Amino acid sequence: MKLIGPFAQILTLASLPEKGAIADEELDVLENGGVVVANGKVVTVGDYDTLLSEYPNIEKEVIEEEQVLLPGFIDCHTHICWAGSRARDYAMRIAGKPYLEIAKAGGGIWDSVTKTRNASLEELVENTVNRAERHLADGITTIEVKSGYALSLEGELKMLKAIKEANRQVIADLVATCLAAHIKPKDFEGTQEEYLNHILNDLLPEVKKQELANRVDIFIEETAFGEDESKAYLQKAKEMGFEITVHADQFSTGGSAVAKEVGALSAEHLESSTDKEIELMANADMVAVALPGASLGLGMAYTPARKLLDKGASVAIASDWNPGSAPMGDLLMQAAVLSAAEKLSTAEVFAGLTFRAAKALGVSDRGRIIENQLADLQAYPVSDFREILYQQGRLKPVTVWKKGIQI
Ligand code: NIG
Ligand code: FE
Repeated sequence: MKLIGPFAQILTLASLPEKGAIADEELDVLENGGVVVANGKVVTVGDYDTLLSEYPNIEKEVIEEEQVLLPGFIDCHTHICWAGSRARDYAMRIAGKPYLEIAKAGGGIWDSVTKTRNASLEELVENTVNRAERHLADGITTIEVKSGYALSLEGELKMLKAIKEANRQVIADLVATCLAAHIKPKDFEGTQEEYLNHILNDLLPEVKKQELANRVDIFIEETAFGEDESKAYLQKAKEMGFEITVHADQFSTGGSAVAKEVGALSAEHLESSTDKEIELMANADMVAVALPGASLGLGMAYTPARKLLDKGASVAIASDWNPGSAPMGDLLMQAAVLSAAEKLSTAEVFAGLTFRAAKALGVSDRGRIIENQLADLQAYPVSDFREILYQQGRLKPVTVWKKGIQI
């Protein structure tokens, strides 16, 4: 057992709601706070001096400077297992060539597929570990990672094995998701539906057997998969015991309705969602995940986070870190930019980066600094929590703890 503190401020996020808008006045700001941790979890959190007198002989990790403590961030949507660069695509995009046009001309996702197929397992492990370590240093203690850049039986298994091995090597928790339904690979001879059936019959049983992932994702879009075939695919994946998430409403709508119908944990992207889809998201037990990194990378509109929150939806914010649409991978910077563009409160941003993101991953043991939650923590070298978004992502944590251990 160990007492960490004193902190100028601790934002426990203890009483913030799972859904809807949040005013900053609702934030629980504990001044001169301390946290008692044991066995990787939070035992209690409270006034530092009171804790000192309640636990007189406890081991202490003394914080000498003024710092603000937050729960570790959770990035609930990334594609950090990939090989090669798409700098060429990016240069074309900023010069004005549309993303979908580049994809149709053979660039885009398919370019990353070719490079990832050619990479060894070791190379993919190394790339994933390096990116996860960068994220961890930025205070991100749980990271979802999707497959979907190999799109063949062996290739997708290789990616998922690389994610599993990377999870063994890094301190952050990596949560794997099978995105074999990213696009239909060019070398698959058959329809979209036949490709999805191939995944269901040949890949997913193996993913289960080898315990490589318990989540399934699909890209519902004109250039990827249609609504009806996606619905049938997701329903069958769900029957096999997989949790569901969907790349929805990025360029055209339809995906979010499918996500709701199949009982997905989350619908992610939503840049094109109209009032109808926003209403639907607000009335579903599903997290709406905003991906400002993709909006920045593609130079397109942001997810309508303000409207979603005002209608009562649960909004998480994730990086979508990938070689194509979102190469930056700086979650806090992206969240800060989104908050300025969409007019989000600091409380809404921190909720979206923590317990609301945990809900999108279907985990309830992290995201707030309260008794029994994982002691995944991060401290910023400031005395006022508002400095964090004010510095728009430039300010990074000075200390990160994973399960109570300083890294
Ligand atoms: O989330 N939208 C589909 N998939 C990824 C991008 C993939 C890529 O361009 O490599 C995304 O933005
Ligand atoms: Fe994505």
